[in-house]
Amino acid sequence: MTARTSDIEMAAGVLRAGGLVAFPTETVYGLGANAEDSAAVARVFQVKGRPPSHPLIVHIRGAEHLGDWVEDVPASARLLAERFWPGPLTLVLRRGRRVPLDATGGLETVAVRVPDHPLALALLSAFGGGVAAPSANRFGSVSPTTADHVRTELDDAVDFVLDGGPCEVGVESTIVDATGDIPSILRPGGVTREDLEAVLGCPIAVPSTSRVRVPGQHPSHYEPRARVVLVEPEKVVAEAELAQQLGHQVGVLLPPSYADTPVKAHAVLAVPGSMAAYARGRYGFLRELDLRGCDLIVASLPTEEGLGAAIANRLRRAAGPRLASE
Ligand code: TXA
Ligand code: MG
Repeated sequence: MTARTSDIEMAAGVLRAGGLVAFPTETVYGLGANAEDSAAVARVFQVKGRPPSHPLIVHIRGAEHLGDWVEDVPASARLLAERFWPGPLTLVLRRGRRVPLDATGGLETVAVRVPDHPLALALLSAFGGGVAAPSANRFGSVSPTTADHVRTELDDAVDFVLDGGPCEVGVESTIVDATGDIPSILRPGGVTREDLEAVLGCPIAVPSTSRVRVPGQHPSHYEPRARVVLVEPEKVVAEAELAQQLGHQVGVLLPPSYADTPVKAHAVLAVPGSMAAYARGRYGFLRELDLRGCDLIVASLPTEEGLGAAIANRLRRAAGPRLASE
């Protein structure tokens, strides 16, 4: 997995020349372009098949550079950046003039984060600027957590893939709107609500998945090809067997307390007991069930505490109403 110095330099050169680099972060792989190059940013949208109104995250190399990319850094944002960066936290702040509107989907705010991955940080240092990057998957599908996922999905559309092995966290960053006095969570992720509240010393708003809050936050997203059905943990086995009898090729994500229960289904994967391991493996599990030819996946939601909140959020969206127009 260890990319060489020459790989980093090559990748930085590709960014400087207006090309696209897929790179590892601690959460998922990103599809990066020079954030200040509108043409390169436009290519990211085109390769992903993402509507231009869906804003990207600008990745920077250290909290001390935040002021270069945003207009104003409220005290709470400063506190969160100092405490959680590098790490799976994205701060939405007022857009600085360096950031073209193409990268923010026309918004006057910009999402910024410092990823906690040695290769991402090495790339950002070698490049020197900001890297606008969404997850390196086609719009609406499952985020990639290995370089192979990226190669399989985006193939020749990317100019360089920096291979950093599997991602540690496996679920995207937590996005916090820090433009106002009281920050709020726009997307749960790798930094938990409990962590944020401990640092801020006050409660923080819990996200709702029932409506579109910001562009790029549709209820259906992060989807495998197979349809996802969510049921109570104690109903997973019965629901899966019934669907299999009805002729579906059923994939099962078996809750930890049922790990030893035999299930008559097409493919069965046991969910790890630890939330960290589940978060790390989940996108890979969904990809594997797709690969094994499942057309229906039966799963249950974990308890929505800590990382469980982010996992439940993505599972709900994977099961959400499919928007045919996307
Ligand atoms: O962990 C992550 O965040 C990964 C890695 C690659 O850093 N990136 C990622 O990017 O998940 P993406 O594009 O798949 O999701 C970014 C989301 C957008 O869909 C949008 O909802 C939100 O960030 N976002 C970006 N800019 C925003 C803004 N100005 N205001 C509100 N939300 C914004
Ligand atoms: Mg994404």
